[in-house]
This record gives sequence, C-alpha cells and structure tokens, in this order.
Amino acid sequence: MAPEKTILITGGAGFIGSHVVRLFVNKYPEYRIINVDKLTYAGNLENLRDIEDKPNYLFVKGDIVDQAFIHDILGRYAITGVIHLAAESHVDRSIASPMEFIHTNITGTVNLLNAARHHWKGTSGEKLFYHISTDEVYGSLGEQGYFTEQTAYDPRSPYSASKASSDHLVRAYFHTFGLPVVISNCSNNYGPYQFPEKLIPLFIHNIVNNKPLPVYGKGENVRDWLYVGDHAAAIDILFHHGEKGETYNIGGNNEWKNIDLIKKLCSVMDGKLGRKPGTSARLITSVKDRAGHDLRYAIDSSKIRKELGWKPSVDFDKGLEMTAGWYLSNKEWMEKVTSGDYLKYYEEQYVKR
Ligand code: NAD
Ligand code: TYD
Repeated sequence: MAPEKTILITGGAGFIGSHVVRLFVNKYPEYRIINVDKLTYAGNLENLRDIEDKPNYLFVKGDIVDQAFIHDILGRYAITGVIHLAAESHVDRSIASPMEFIHTNITGTVNLLNAARHHWKGTSGEKLFYHISTDEVYGSLGEQGYFTEQTAYDPRSPYSASKASSDHLVRAYFHTFGLPVVISNCSNNYGPYQFPEKLIPLFIHNIVNNKPLPVYGKGENVRDWLYVGDHAAAIDILFHHGEKGETYNIGGNNEWKNIDLIKKLCSVMDGKLGRKPGTSARLITSVKDRAGHDLRYAIDSSKIRKELGWKPSVDFDKGLEMTAGWYLSNKEWMEKVTSGDYLKYYEEQYVKR
C-alpha cells in the first residue's frame, strides 16, 4: 500500500531535525519519512540509532545545494511534504566564515523550492513546504517588547541574514508561484543531541572536563529558551494544521540572561557530579564579546497558542535537569561527535579572540 504521505525532512541528522524525524517516524507509521542530510560536522547518524531500522524511515546522504540530487529525491520518492531544517546554524561560525551559510541556507532553500514547484505542478493531493526558521531574523530587542509575526525583519549576523533571506524566498514562492508554504520562527532550543558548540551543551562539556566556561562580554544578553521536544511538537502541529502562507512564532516565554542561566547550569552540574556547590561556577571566564552580539530575543507566541492550542510542556528546571542528565549518561555520544574537526575549530577560535 502506498504511504499516506511521503515527507522529506532535510537536516534530520542534526539537533532539532533528529527530534522531528524520531517523532514523525514513531507517531506516523502510515507516513514514509525520507531524511536527507549532508552530515556536516553538526549532523550525526548517532542521533538516530534508535529508529534507523524502522520500515517507514530512509536516510539518504546528500547536499541540498546539489540541484540534480534534490530534483531526483523529490521525483524518485514522490515527496508530498517537505519539512526543511537543513542549515548552517551557528552564529559564531557565520562570523568566522559566512559563505557556507549563503550556499546552504539560501541556495539550498531555493533548490528545494524549485524542485517542489517543478514536481508538484499540476498534481492533485495536498502538498506542503514547511520551512523552519529562527527568531534571530527579527534582530535585537532592547529591554522591553517582544517579536511578533508582524515585526519587521532586521537580521544582524551572517547566520540570521541568511535565514531571513531564505524566509523571504519561501514567502516569495507562495505569492509568486502559489507554492503551499508554512514558516515558523522559533527561539533558542536546548536538549539532548545538540552539538556542543552552542551555549548549553558546550558548557556541560566544559564543566565535565574542568575547562573554562567562556562567557561573551558581561553575560548580559538575553535568550528565550525552549525544550527541543516542545519545538518538535509545534512542528508536528504546524505541519498538519498550519495555514498556508502563514508564519508562526514559537517560543518558551522563558527569558534568561546568559550569566544567570550559566550559574543555574553550574549548580545543576555540581549536584549531578557530586561536586561541592560553587565548584563549576569557578570555571566561568569572561572573554571578548561576540561581534554584533544581539542583546535580547523574546518571542510572542500567542498566535500558535491561541489558534492551534500549542504550549510548551517542559518547564526550564525540569528541562535543564533532563538535559544535563542526558549528556552525562551519553558521554560516548559526546566523544564521537567531538572527535572530528571540532577541537581544531575551537582552538582556532580561542586564538583569534
Ligand atoms: P544543526 O546544526 O544541529 O543541524 C543542521 C543539520 O543540517 C545537520 O545535520 C547538517 O548535517 C545538515 N546540513 C547542513 N548543511 C547541509 C546541506 N548543505 N545539505 C544537507 N544537509 C545539511 O541545526 P539545528 O539547531 O538542529 O537547527 C535546525 C534548523 O532549525 C535550522 O534551520 C535552524 O536555523 C533552525 N532553528 C534552530 C534553533 C536552535 O536553537 N538550534 C532555533 C530556531 C530555529
Ligand atoms: P548560542 O548557543 O550560540 O545561540 P545564539 O547565538 O544563536 O542565540 O549562544 C547563546 C547565547 O550564549 C548568546 O548570547 C551567546 C552566548 N554564548 C557565550 O556567552 N559563550 C559561548 O561560548 C557561546 C557558544 C555562546
């Protein structure tokens, strides 16, 4: 029997993508899930070991920038829905070397849009191109206010500028070509399987290894943190019930100054490692600020909450405990994903700072 839907998930071997793949493969045995991922430093099949043998799942290694490859995937598997997560995702890397962000985040997205347009033209049945984006496209807030879906785009890092560009292109394909699209813009995610270059897993890694915790500037910058499982749940809802052509903000209503979050994480880690209170906090080290460091992100997610009934289910205390516990029970994962160019990259960054 043909699957009810055949969904292409791009970037499914990355942090958020692996949670979305796992959710869809387990929850929808009647769908076929095709995961396309280039397996950059940030993508790892270790993230999907528990579902890799499921009959409704297929992994195909490949680059979304490769036109012929993407056209072949959409045609060969008769894709009816795309959930597009593949991206270069780390702001610091985009500052050090922007071009890969332009290729993957902009050109890669347009390749997917073109392929969907080509293969879906004149066909019947429901189709959807769902583009996953970030709140960083809206720029930087002062101490007051929230990003709504109406906030004008004002990206300030090469990463956020490349994501903003891809969002505009997705919207342009809706208006110009009638491609059925949905976009969501989410705040900072945390949880298991996040590559240890982002704040929370990097600091867990460094605490375990008694390495300095590099706080950019004074640690006054504010982020709104959401447990990754709650983001995956929102993606499930929007894939099935989002209105075509619409944008939805997703956020945790959970703002933290970096320095306060770091101190909280240090205390959770002291508890888990059986260290004397205050031990991990002694590793906190102030380093040169990130160039163009956005001061504050805060999301107004009332649209998805009111219209579609989504809300976060994991509170921050519980989420941070679970996350710290997961990394400590999965040291082998940490060793595997950090065994490539990771240390070399970080050493180079520290020298430059
Ligand atoms: P990630 O860096 O962990 O994963 C990205 C994945 O994309 C990796 O598996 C990588 O191998 C793959 N990839 C990169 N370039 C590719 C290419 N050219 N072709 C095919 N695959 C490629 O990122 P993440 O944190 O899981 O983010 C996923 C998406 O969600 C991104 O689009 C990001 O902009 C967005 N987002 C992330 C956050 C966050 O807090 N992490 C918040 C909001 C939105
Ligand atoms: P990050 O996890 O890189 O996410 P983003 O920049 O996309 O929000 O960083 C979260 C915050 O933590 C951000 O304000 C930068 C800061 N930060 C540090 O202070 N030190 C670090 O080593 C890292 C990686 C981030």
